[in-house]
Amino acid sequence: MHTLEERLALTISIAQEAGELIRKARAEQSFSQRLKADEELVTDVDVAVDQLIRQRLNGYFPGEALLSEELAPERALDANVAKLWVVDPIDGTVNFAQGLKHVAVSIGWMEEGVGKVGVVHAPFLNETFSAAEGLGAFCNQQPIQAGKVSLLAETLVGTGFPYQKEARLALMPRLGAVLAKCRDVRRNGAAALDLCDVACGRLGAYYETVSPWDFVAGWVIAREAGATVGHLAAIPEGVPADLYPKELLVAAPAVYQAMERLLLDASQ
Ligand code: IPD
Ligand code: CA
Ligand code: CA
Repeated sequence: MHTLEERLALTISIAQEAGELIRKARAEQSFSQRLKADEELVTDVDVAVDQLIRQRLNGYFPGEALLSEELAPERALDANVAKLWVVDPIDGTVNFAQGLKHVAVSIGWMEEGVGKVGVVHAPFLNETFSAAEGLGAFCNQQPIQAGKVSLLAETLVGTGFPYQKEARLALMPRLGAVLAKCRDVRRNGAAALDLCDVACGRLGAYYETVSPWDFVAGWVIAREAGATVGHLAAIPEGVPADLYPKELLVAAPAVYQAMERLLLDASQ
């Protein structure tokens, strides 16, 4: 049995080791890329990093279930797993392939459907965000807190868009409303880091529909940092909220309600 502190420390070391692999691959420019389902980009490095993390987690935590984007995406939304690791080996694959810096390893751990540990490590930004239930949230071991913004006009909002082009059009009313009422919008290309940016007050809010591996770790970090985390739609029965990836809204507490109203009104 590991304590939460031990799990957190091991998860940080695994994410940082994975980050080194990502840095090395970029330095050597030795990877190939292809499209998987629809228009989604994947590189050799995504798969290699997924394998490395899988090996390490199996070594330290034998028998615990693992949901990961490249090697085991099928466990999504399985509520019947007592202990579940949720892994995105590279969040921000397009950024990685294009030489941009918003790239992260995201590792979350859930127990009985509740997110308990989150680590998001950004190798090109030299930042490791981490949190565990009840233990606070940190960036590079320094405590972090969500912002205090309370007015939409002062809220900088992060979001993202799906790979499928036709699905993007439906998101335009919300985007228009946010551009009209809020300070501005950022589309940085790595959902895990968007959540961490809300956790440390760089962003006032973030909304998007993603997949479990994109958000579980960052969600734990944002919540532990005092951000309000929620959904803009009902969660299907039997699915844990901490694993349900659709219609996410994460915001500084004082602006959450106003953001929720703005986004819901825009999509009607
Ligand atoms: C993507 C990023 C992006 C978000 C997409 C995700 P990937 O993850 O998090 O910011 O807008 O919805 O799919 O494909 O780079 O791991
Ligand atoms: Ca991702
Ligand atoms: Ca990914």
